[in-house]
Amino acid sequence: MSIVEKFVTMEYGPAPEDPREAFAWLDGHKRRFGHFIRGGWHAPIAGEYFDTADPSTGDKLAEVAQGSAEDVHAAVAAARSALAGWQSLAPHARARYLYALARQVQKHSRRLAVLETMDNGKPIRESRDLDIPLVARHFYYHAGWAQLLAQEFPGYAACGVVGQIIPWNFPLLMLAWKIAPALATGNTVVLKPAEFTPLSALAFAEICQEIGLPAGVVNIVTGDGSTGEALVQHADVDKIAFTGSTEVGRAIRRATATSHKKLSLELGGKSPFIIFEDADLDGAVEGLVDGIWLNQGQVCCAGSRLLMQESVAEKLIGKVRARMETLRVGPPLDKAIDVGAIVARVQLDRIRRLVDRGVAEGAVCWQPATAMPSRGLYFPPTLLSNVHPASVVAQEEIFGPVLVAMTFRTPSEAVELANNTAYGLAASVWSESINVSLHVSSQLKAGVVWVNSTNLFDGACGFGGYRESGYGREGGKEGLIEYLEPTWFKQAPAILPASFSGKQDRVERVSRPSMGALPSIDRTVKLYIGGKQARPDSGYSMQVFGADGGLLGEAPLGNRKDIRNAVEAARKAEGWGKATAHNRAQVLYYMAENLSQRSGEVARHLACVVGEEQAKKEVQASIERIFSYAAWTDKFDGSVHNPPFRNVTLAMHEPVGTIGIACPAECPLLGFVSLALAAMAMGNTIVAIPSEAYPLIAGDIYQVFDTSDLPGGVVNMVTGRTAELLKILAEHDGVDAVWCFTDEAGAASAKALSAGNLKQVWTNEGRAINWFDVKQAEGRWFLEHATQVKNIWVPYGE
Ligand code: NAI
Repeated sequence: MSIVEKFVTMEYGPAPEDPREAFAWLDGHKRRFGHFIRGGWHAPIAGEYFDTADPSTGDKLAEVAQGSAEDVHAAVAAARSALAGWQSLAPHARARYLYALARQVQKHSRRLAVLETMDNGKPIRESRDLDIPLVARHFYYHAGWAQLLAQEFPGYAACGVVGQIIPWNFPLLMLAWKIAPALATGNTVVLKPAEFTPLSALAFAEICQEIGLPAGVVNIVTGDGSTGEALVQHADVDKIAFTGSTEVGRAIRRATATSHKKLSLELGGKSPFIIFEDADLDGAVEGLVDGIWLNQGQVCCAGSRLLMQESVAEKLIGKVRARMETLRVGPPLDKAIDVGAIVARVQLDRIRRLVDRGVAEGAVCWQPATAMPSRGLYFPPTLLSNVHPASVVAQEEIFGPVLVAMTFRTPSEAVELANNTAYGLAASVWSESINVSLHVSSQLKAGVVWVNSTNLFDGACGFGGYRESGYGREGGKEGLIEYLEPTWFKQAPAILPASFSGKQDRVERVSRPSMGALPSIDRTVKLYIGGKQARPDSGYSMQVFGADGGLLGEAPLGNRKDIRNAVEAARKAEGWGKATAHNRAQVLYYMAENLSQRSGEVARHLACVVGEEQAKKEVQASIERIFSYAAWTDKFDGSVHNPPFRNVTLAMHEPVGTIGIACPAECPLLGFVSLALAAMAMGNTIVAIPSEAYPLIAGDIYQVFDTSDLPGGVVNMVTGRTAELLKILAEHDGVDAVWCFTDEAGAASAKALSAGNLKQVWTNEGRAINWFDVKQAEGRWFLEHATQVKNIWVPYGE
């Protein structure tokens, strides 16, 4: 037998990891855990426990507490009372605690890895070499941020008490992704692990005790979805950070709509794994093993859709099948195992159901002749080919070891297919051509793109989705922002009803005052859609009154159809986002020039509503603000992150897309300019509802646009009843984000109605903003909302 033959036929013997220490730890706790609150263990108030089991054997591992609303309340109260003390520590002291957590995780890394594998079913190779080292890395990285916080984030403060809800696929890693940035920024937390995998979080609680973390800074409440719900609904929680299914993400968006809780969501995905004909095919196939069979495919960013260039598809499928034949499925504590157990029966059933559905829809199902264990929850590596892009298995997250394969002919077809789902979490692009890989990466709707690599994670690099994969980032500087808010905003007073806003609600019509023999020429203000003035579909107008109660004119009453047309025009104008920043800056500067030329006329119009003094100030401040955003256009740079690999990670600022903006009633010109220009500067297109108090400002604004070389459709304005129009915008699936700066009711409605396509929502939370104050009304806080960060991982060197 030749060496090659021996190598090919080589069999591995079993190499089981010794679980004794993990069992001893469980025994030390008598295999029964309460909640970790205020630095100690507490039995659940209702006395209820549930079992957590090893999915590879079905054996019960321990009992954990089922958290009730009362338990959650106790944990939130503990986090609240610990907050002031935690925040009063010097940044260096917080950095020391985070450093100690990192060290302690490393000291107990093997026990944690074994516990994770027993509770979750993932191969020990993964928990030992990926999960736990990344947990430690995350705490190290954020120890650094704790140290540098005040220097790097002046003017920002912690959100406060943070509720964190995590899934079962990377239990301890998700805990680290949540807790490390929260603590580094001075928040205290209540974390709820997933019901299938609570044990490593409880082991982490003990680590918090061991390093002497002040009581109440970290609290862990175990339980199922109802415990999570209680945390989401608790009135004294300032922020919710959630990772899990898109469906629950939607429910949480709705549940928090009437509160002022900040929200970040890391949801599902259906990530493309794109292989071009010039790729290193063997390298790509190895990547695919990690892409879809890591953690049995139970990975939110799994490369679950294989997109192959047609010219190499057959060859590639042959290689994929050959590699699948060598995957070893079996007991996850065996170090030679590639594919472990599925986390729970319900998940296994879901995978089976979806694969059957795929086959019923015409997919060809192929599975290798791998030996399968006789007990435990397992599913073999599976390849579904002949899959139609619209079929359920090509669109829905299967969350199992199932790869669906499709072909494309050209790079643009690859991009179209890749973007053809509601999700936008991650993508993997394989090509030896830097032009192809970076060009394609720039066009993918995904928060993370790996070039010639896959499933790389690091504390220094942001992770998170576009579209229905959620919003907010975890990791990197961009991840910290999720746990901070501008200090002034936290203290801003509630907005007062604008003194003139009620006057536009009159029912009775008022006649124009007689102007003598010759009437003045009517001043007609229209909607502004696709760069053209348009009459409203409704054929109705609303009367607009000045501060003295006199009739100023009539503004169009926009309706659903007008919003639809405006959104369509905005989406067609997406070329604006692809224009160079310099190009956009020129248009913005030109706007300032044109507004300046019309300043007298605009101020005269505005004075009828806000008074002469404010009108002049508003026009002047608007010109300055436009200059600011023209300046920012090519200066709000992304960054290059530094993960500990031979890799650069480009953190690109990309526009969010089409943003619907409900402008404040007060400051009709400056409010519009402050919001719209921030969005435009970053390449977004806009559908704006101008101030309801003085919608006629639209006429002045579009005259400026029309003379400033602004491409049609970049800004669209629909005047009318703000609450009605906002509802239509917030529900519209063609809108990627909604900004509402009206009042408390507007903010709540925008949040609740945005849940459909999980568009990003940004509101004033019903608080007053001083639009004249540069610190409050322009700059980074606005630009951060106008962009989403795409992390593109590019390997270099050997
Ligand atoms: P899930 O979204 O129900 O659970 C995630 C976490 O949310 C768990 O801690 C759970 O207890 C909690 N939760 C459930 N309902 C809640 C509610 N109403 N309010 C607050 N918290 C709540 O995910 P599940 O049921 O475990 O898995 C179902 C599917 O979700 C999977 O098949 C997979 O497709 C997807 N999923 C996606 C994940 C991701 O990382 N993107 C992670 C886990 C699941």
